[in-house]
This record gives sequence, structure tokens and C-alpha cells, in this order.
Amino acid sequence: MDKLFSLHGKIAIVTGAGGLLGKQHCIALAEAGAHVIAADIEKMNVEQFPENIHDKLSMVKLDVTDTASLSSVRERIISQFGGIDIIVNNAAINDMVERRDNTTQGTFEDYPLYLWKKVLDVNVTGVFLCCQYLGDIMEKKSSGTIINIASTYGVVAPDQSIYIKENGDRLMYKSPIYPTSKGAIIQFTKYLAAYWAQKNIRVNCISPGGVFADQDQEFVGNYIRKTPMGRMAQSDDFKGTLVFLASDASSYMTGANIIVDGGWTII
Ligand SMILES: NC(=O)c1ccc[n+]([C@@H]2O[C@H](COP(=O)([O-])OP(=O)(O)OC[C@H]3O[C@@H](n4cnc5c(N)ncnc54)[C@H](O)[C@@H]3O)[C@@H](O)[C@H]2O)c1
Repeated sequence: MDKLFSLHGKIAIVTGAGGLLGKQHCIALAEAGAHVIAADIEKMNVEQFPENIHDKLSMVKLDVTDTASLSSVRERIISQFGGIDIIVNNAAINDMVERRDNTTQGTFEDYPLYLWKKVLDVNVTGVFLCCQYLGDIMEKKSSGTIINIASTYGVVAPDQSIYIKENGDRLMYKSPIYPTSKGAIIQFTKYLAAYWAQKNIRVNCISPGGVFADQDQEFVGNYIRKTPMGRMAQSDDFKGTLVFLASDASSYMTGANIIVDGGWTII
């Protein structure tokens, strides 16, 4: 069983590695034995990660929407590592209660076109480009596994009532583009899984539920009332699923969407 889940000798890349979940994805893959290229548009430092995996990490600056940036990372992967075995497409723009900014403002009727295009560019086109520029290395070797990070909101619609406080104040509206982008990722996963199935490249998807990050207490209460398991996710709740999909333990799985949400989408 250890061998089945082992990622020893594998090279992985995680996009959006500096974020809440990206960091945990890097830790999971490194703990399972992979060498992990931690890629983010923001500058990162190895000190952001636990010391026990420092020798298993390489930091890289990458904008998933920029083909020049992708070409340069592609060249570095080929010259430094000779190939890539695991791609985790995790980078995204997500409108969050805890980080209210211009992406969370306003109603559907007023949602600005420039934000729609910006989120679409990172969340969908970015995944397409990473698969094209980096998956292409896998295609040439006829081997690899790609894991796309979608969301429960790619499966069911946002419940806009969980963003309302007891006194009637609204914290935010979940944007129209975030669920749209995540639904697209679930379908893109199926497209590429079918397209590359004969090339021994498996493409799967994880749909996480909402992750606890010190959000407004009333929001957390609203969220957990709708969650059969009675809690939000912890940022490390997805590690096992990720290693499962990255390893030979899932060798006959492709095009799947594993929902990890404490039951949010079952009721
Ligand atoms: N946090 C949640 O509750 C939750 C729930 C379901 C799904 N998800 C999904 O999980 C993934 C990670 O979410 P998170 O909560 O860690 O988000 P986060 O905002 O903490 O991290 C996202 C990271 O992506 C990076 N990024 C943004 N644009 C980029 C670009 N153009 N190129 C490269 N990197 C870029 C950011 O710098 C950031 O480090 C996302 O795909 C998100 O949609 C999150």
C-alpha cells in the first residue's frame, strides 16, 4: 500500500502555491515523496513552508495567464528536472468573505465586465494554458497526472443567503463568474481526460467545500448549518485526496470530480 500511494522520484508543480490551499497541496505531495515546484504570481519564500520539506521544494514565479511566463517555466522544468509527472492547477481568483474587495461588491445586475473577464482569465484560461504548456511535456513522454482544483460552487449554485448577517446586513454576494469558472473546470477536466486517455495522462478534479479562515462568525454559523458534517473544511482536509489522485492508487481513474465538502452538496 505504501508503494501505491508513494510519489518518490516524481516531479510535481502546484500553481497558486502561496495561497491557503496551495501551500497544503505542496506539503502533501512533498510528504508523499515528490519534488514540488511551488509556483505563484506572488514572490514566495521557502520559509513559508515547514522545514521538513525545504529540500523537496523549488520556488518559481509564474503567471498562469501569461504565455511568456509559462514558456520560461516550461524550459526550466525540462532543463532542470527532465520532465514533469504531476500538475496541480490550483491558482484562482476567489471572492471570499474574509477578503472582501472589489471582486465581492455588488449584485449580479451590476457585476462589472472587467472582473468577469479577469476571473475567467485566471480560473479557466490559466488552467487551459498550464495544461497546454506543461501538459505538453507529459504528452511527449506519454505519462502524467493532472489535478484541477474546482469547487462545490462548480457543482451547485451559491446560496446567497449565507452571506447575510442576523441584523440583515449583507457581507457580500458570491460573484456570477466564480461558480461559472469552476463549472467550466469540471467539464474541461472531462474533455482533457478523454482527449489524453490513450496517452497515459490522467486528468481529475477535486471540488473542495468552503475552508475555514477566520471568517465572520455569523457567516461560519450559516455555513455549518448547511453542512451535514457540521464544520467548514480545514485547509489540510484535501491532502489525502490529492495524493490519491496524484499517485498510482487512482490508476484507473480519469475525468472524475471528487467532491470533498463535508456533505454540503448532498442536501
Ligand atoms: N478557500 C476555499 O474555501 C476554497 C473552496 C473551494 C475551492 N477553492 C479553490 O482552491 C484553490 C485555492 O484557493 P485558496 O483558498 O488557496 O485561494 P488563495 O487566494 O489563498 O490562493 C490563490 C493563489 O493563487 C495565486 N494566483 C492568483 N492569480 C495567479 C496567476 N495569474 N498565476 C499564478 N498564481 C496566481 C495567488 O497569488 C494565491 O497565492 C482555488 O482554485 C479555489 O478556487 C477554495
